[in-house]
Amino acid sequence: MQFSSLFFSLVLATAVVAKGDKNSTSTGTKAVTDKSMCKEMSSLNQLVKLASNETKLADKTKNNATKIADIQAKASDASTKLTTMSSNTTLMSTCAVIDAAAKTDDECQSMKSLQKLVSLAGNDTALADKAKNNQTKIDAIKGLATKAQTKLDAMTSNSTLTTACDSIKSSKASKNGTKDAAASASAAGASASSTAKAKSAASMLNARVGLLSSFVLVAAGMMML
Ligand SMILES: *[C@@H]1O[C@H](CO)[C@@H](O)[C@H](O)[C@H]1NC(C)=O
Ligand SMILES: *[C@@H]1O[C@H](CO)[C@@H](O)[C@H](O)[C@H]1NC(C)=O
Ligand SMILES: *[C@@H]1O[C@H](CO)[C@@H](O)[C@H](O)[C@H]1NC(C)=O
Ligand SMILES: *[C@@H]1O[C@H](CO)[C@@H](O)[C@H](O)[C@H]1NC(C)=O
Ligand SMILES: *[C@@H]1O[C@H](CO)[C@@H](O)[C@H](O)[C@H]1NC(C)=O
Ligand SMILES: *[C@@H]1O[C@H](CO)[C@@H](O)[C@H](O)[C@H]1NC(C)=O
Ligand SMILES: *[C@@H]1O[C@H](CO)[C@@H](O)[C@H](O)[C@H]1NC(C)=O
Ligand SMILES: *[C@@H]1O[C@H](CO)[C@@H](O)[C@H](O)[C@H]1NC(C)=O
Repeated sequence: MQFSSLFFSLVLATAVVAKGDKNSTSTGTKAVTDKSMCKEMSSLNQLVKLASNETKLADKTKNNATKIADIQAKASDASTKLTTMSSNTTLMSTCAVIDAAAKTDDECQSMKSLQKLVSLAGNDTALADKAKNNQTKIDAIKGLATKAQTKLDAMTSNSTLTTACDSIKSSKASKNGTKDAAASASAAGASASSTAKAKSAASMLNARVGLLSSFVLVAAGMMML
């Protein structure tokens, strides 16, 4: 699954490069933008990283030598492309800005999840309902919420972050609930985003304790980072 999605994104990335010089908006395909280039760099980076990790490579390919050779060949091309792209300082600084925006967006989302968890733990009715009156679960949520509060306090004390979150919120509101395409595109570009990590930490936690709703888990995942 992961393997085929990697290939899918590789194919996409290659397609983007192939169209790199054309303005393909009119043909209905996505135009090459700074965002798409930053995203591409991030996929190329992942590919190069994968190819250099023999353990991971064997794991992802189930030790299929054909697939391994294929990935290594693609990674070699990717590496060349990366070198070229990295030499463009304009692009590099644009990507840094985009990555920072994606990171901030992630942090704002995390704050929301943490706040939801804290609110849930503070509402006996809602808590009993969510935990289906299971005292073990109720206690577990309360324990997580205590940690969530600590994390939330630390994040809230960062006025740079809270100001950024407020402005993201108001820009989203002014778009009347329309999904901020730019934000989601840049978030997608930040492959190692904290939300993604929180989600995987959350699924680990879920496997371990069989907990609850996704926001509780994502918030909990945040605390495991
Ligand atoms: C080419 O792309 C740019 C930026 O995406 C856009 O502003 C412009 O209208 C496009 N031109 C054509 C002919 O599609
Ligand atoms: C290689 O990948 C494995 C997981 O597949 C990971 O545990 C390990 O840290 C990676 N090694 C390096 C050098 O990144
Ligand atoms: C290895 O992968 C190649 C290419 O995807 C495939 O054609 C071949 O059947 C695979 N070999 C084994 C032993 O699974
Ligand atoms: C560098 O990247 C920018 C986009 O960030 C692009 O407009 C410019 O053409 C690139 N320069 C070169 C030399 O490729
Ligand atoms: C607690 O949760 C219940 C059920 O979800 C909700 O109806 C109620 O308004 C909440 N109470 C407070 C003080 O938020
Ligand atoms: C309560 O939840 C815990 C932890 O998820 C679970 O192990 C236990 O079986 C549940 N108890 C009941 C009575 O459902
Ligand atoms: C505050 O948040 C901003 C934006 O996410 C971040 O760049 C900065 O490092 C944070 N400051 C502290 C002290 O954590
Ligand atoms: C705002 O969104 C609502 C539905 O979410 C819609 O009914 C309304 O027409 C929108 N207003 C504008 C100005 O787009």
